[in-house]
Amino acid sequence: MGSQSRRNFWLVLLLAVGLAGFIVVSPTATLAVRPAAAQATLDGEAIYLERCAFCHGENGDGDGPVAPYLNPRPRDFTSGQFKFRTTASGELPLREDVIHIVQVGVRSTAMPAWEGVLTEAEIEAVVDYLTQNFVPDWGEFEPVVIPVGNPPRVTAAIIAEGEQIYQELQCWKCHGQAGRADGPSAPTLTDDFDFPIRAADLTKAWRYKGGSELIDIYSRFSTGLNGTPMPSFYDVFPEEEREEKLWALSAYVYSLQAQQPTEQSVITAGRIAGSLPTSPEAPEWNEVEAVSLFLTGQVITGPRWQTPGVDAVTVRALHNDESLALLVEWSDPFQDAAGGGSEGNVGNATYVNLDEFLGTAGPQPDALAVQFPQTVTEGTQKPYFFWGQPGQPVNLWRWQADSSVAEYNVAGFREEWQPQESSQVTAEASWADGQYRLLFTRPLTTTDPNDVQLVPGEFIPIAFQAWEGSNGEAGTRLALSSWYSLVLEKPAPVSVYLYTVLTVGLVAAGEWLLVRRARRK
Ligand code: HEC
Ligand code: HEC
Repeated sequence: MGSQSRRNFWLVLLLAVGLAGFIVVSPTATLAVRPAAAQATLDGEAIYLERCAFCHGENGDGDGPVAPYLNPRPRDFTSGQFKFRTTASGELPLREDVIHIVQVGVRSTAMPAWEGVLTEAEIEAVVDYLTQNFVPDWGEFEPVVIPVGNPPRVTAAIIAEGEQIYQELQCWKCHGQAGRADGPSAPTLTDDFDFPIRAADLTKAWRYKGGSELIDIYSRFSTGLNGTPMPSFYDVFPEEEREEKLWALSAYVYSLQAQQPTEQSVITAGRIAGSLPTSPEAPEWNEVEAVSLFLTGQVITGPRWQTPGVDAVTVRALHNDESLALLVEWSDPFQDAAGGGSEGNVGNATYVNLDEFLGTAGPQPDALAVQFPQTVTEGTQKPYFFWGQPGQPVNLWRWQADSSVAEYNVAGFREEWQPQESSQVTAEASWADGQYRLLFTRPLTTTDPNDVQLVPGEFIPIAFQAWEGSNGEAGTRLALSSWYSLVLEKPAPVSVYLYTVLTVGLVAAGEWLLVRRARRK
């Protein structure tokens, strides 16, 4: 990329982020300056040009100035392809379908929800404008509506039947055996516009674009998502058993949805006697309480990253007074073990081609880092959550999918990273069914002043960062969390034992006295 086009790129990106931020952050501010009289004659075209054109293009062809930097791209309305419909596969949507998706937006994409930003009448006006002016054959044919009956009560038997159908219809080819979008066909999927597209991760309820309820799921695979490799499965069953089969399949897909990450901010490392689990697959981990947290794209320094591959991690921890064992799990459909498309790189090198915009050479290895303050201080003072700041460094344990682990000290996101010469952090990782499990182990205390010291009972700030190689992530292009707290369970203090012994003793003595008195009588 030449320096001129690079400068243009930054300008457009800045503009895009600014505009998107403006829409998201200040709906009321923009509404307030609008005169109430404008309600009388609603101009769909004006609303479209003001609100939609910089993504969808002035001519509705999905080619607004921001479009090249979005993944997925804004819809080209002139293609007549709509994903979220109540109508049969290949048909145009109903007017109500378009109104609905403009109201609620498309989750986990750049398409905002307009409810509350535009009035109901404004949404109708802009939808009429875009459908009548850009969508070929709009209003010429009556679309066939796919009926959705009433969902059944979900039982284990229905889910089991649905699982069988998931196998028979080979949903796993794209969505993977556990639903994490890691099926054998997943790396090479493209949409009708030849852009790479990912299968939906069916375990993440919060990412379902068309809603995650039973009835939404039913609609998605009975109508299909036009313009994508996701077909309609409405006609595969004879009419008499269709409803039952499709509801069973919906129930199974619904059952794949993992728990929503919590707002819980404390991760407790339980204290055990004896040795800690040495493998991320050790069955002992199933007994340990799990905390799931959200990660977001890094938008503090350029290139700002709105579409991170990893949006959540699940954490479990144990200690035995000597060492800490920290298990981190996250979904990643493609295992990228080494950068630059070299041997051992299982993910598809051209999966999301970001070179054009961001100048990286192919996928980088997947990676995950756990961050602590270098020094834990009392009170609420913590280093800046994004790699610390001058004078307040962080201590990072970073694992990479080529099986290397290194420890760093960083004091600000502009600093070069230098690995520590020797480190007592070890890491053990596995990948299966689109999921990494990574186990870090470190002694609670070390003699290196650059290392965080892990003292039981203290609130130790902890944060997580992830890089998904096949999503073009490396360096400052990553997903990150804010600070959480890690607390290592303390042995009960001696005074507690003392009180317990005393109480038990007193009760026993009292009983003995009572018994004696009763006997005497
Ligand atoms: C910041 C960029 C952005 C803006 C602004 C935006 N959209 Fe979108 N829109 C998108 C993207 C991206 C998609 C595609 C999502 C996908 O394919 O999963 C989309 C999809 C759509 C769809 C297709 C839904 C379907 O069923 O397939 C409609 C309709 C739509 N937008 C209408 C609008 C309208 C109306 C406005 C203005 C009021 C608007 N959009 C503003 C980014 C934007
Ligand atoms: C050829 C690949 C392929 C097959 C086979 C396939 N899907 Fe999909 N599916 C996709 C893609 C790609 C998407 C995402 C489209 C998008 O994001 O616009 C998707 C989306 C979905 C969604 C919508 C999720 C959301 O975001 O709202 C559901 C539900 C779904 N698939 C279920 C199924 C089920 C059930 C089956 C089997 C009966 C199946 N799929 C078979 C590729 C496939």
